[in-house]
Amino acid sequence: MAPDEILFLTSNAHKAAEARSILNKYGISIINRPAKGTEIQSDSLADVARFCAQDAFKRLGRPLFVEDSGLFIDALNGFPGVYSSTAYAQIGCPGILRLLSGLQNRAAQFRCAVAFIDRQGARIFEAESSGSISEKEAGPSGFGYDPIFIPKGHEKTFAQAPALKARLSHRAKALDALGRHLRGI
Ligand code: IMP
Repeated sequence: MAPDEILFLTSNAHKAAEARSILNKYGISIINRPAKGTEIQSDSLADVARFCAQDAFKRLGRPLFVEDSGLFIDALNGFPGVYSSTAYAQIGCPGILRLLSGLQNRAAQFRCAVAFIDRQGARIFEAESSGSISEKEAGPSGFGYDPIFIPKGHEKTFAQAPALKARLSHRAKALDALGRHLRGI
């Protein structure tokens, strides 16, 4: 049976709010704890998330999930990818726009791996959202690279269109899969 309440370990309040609204649809409440725990160095989001979840479960002993995500830009061979959070802190959206200046190929994907763990073990839910990097920053909502990411088939950035992000984002899709798994649907 699905737990009605699960811990989500993240220090990112935006991620917590996004997760809360998705899992609410499945009648699952989230308790947000800020510490994500030990992060290994790996080029796999799934491995990072799985390790964090297992490590946290050893300490806390109750159903929980963590997620690891990043922005992968084709013309930059996947950069910032697993280094998204460091790159954001160092160069931010303006730095990414500078790296792409003059380039035609602006294709990019947001990717997310959610690792859920309970007594039965860990389960990974991966998803991505395809799109492109805008020419300039636009929009007040969201966080991180939202002002420069335009989902495929649309014209506005995630930061301009939070309702679109709620439907199409990498995190929304991965958490939707978690919700369905927990409810057995
Ligand atoms: P981490 O998963 O905490 O390592 O962080 C991944 C980084 O990728 C974040 O700090 C953001 O910079 C970026 N990122 C991940 N998901 C999103 C998103 O939904 N919108 C914008 N940026 C994101």
